[in-house]
Amino acid sequence: MEPVIPDLRDTPRAEAYERLAEMQALLLEGSDDVIAGMATTATLLHHAFGHLWTGFYRVVVPDTLLRVGPYQGSLGCQEIRFGRGVCGTAAAERRTVVVPDVHAFPGHIACDARSRSEIVVPVFDAHGALLAVLDIDSPEPAAFGDDDEAGLARLVAWFARTTYVPVPA
Ligand code: SME
Repeated sequence: MEPVIPDLRDTPRAEAYERLAEMQALLLEGSDDVIAGMATTATLLHHAFGHLWTGFYRVVVPDTLLRVGPYQGSLGCQEIRFGRGVCGTAAAERRTVVVPDVHAFPGHIACDARSRSEIVVPVFDAHGALLAVLDIDSPEPAAFGDDDEAGLARLVAWFARTTYVPVPA
């Protein structure tokens, strides 16, 4: 039987991410499957923290187009162009983007009107190629800080064992 995802909403963030990284390693042991990695990581994060939306947008045309991948939560947008919204900005600039107030971010793409804050983290493969971005939306303002950025960087480091293979658009 698979382990139950703990409720980590009241756990200090550094400790919470430590526990999730342990679970991720255990669940994905021996795997280098990108989709399995995305599905497992999104599910752990989403249910441990009770986020609004947690998932991946995959690079399907390098430097041009992201398409939705494994996620949990309400419906996500299907495709996002590089440079558009928070996800497209993080992808184009290959850096983590933290948005404390989505209404103050020019070009924010509202897939769910309840979203108030957001963090998007780039995901790189073994060769340093951009594989995807990890997007998390919260109904609370300013829900994400430095501890989330560090913890999520650790979780997406799992994908550095994989090799980027774009799916033809
Ligand atoms: N808000 C994101 C779009 C993705 S959804 O929120 C799931 C953005 O501005 O890129």
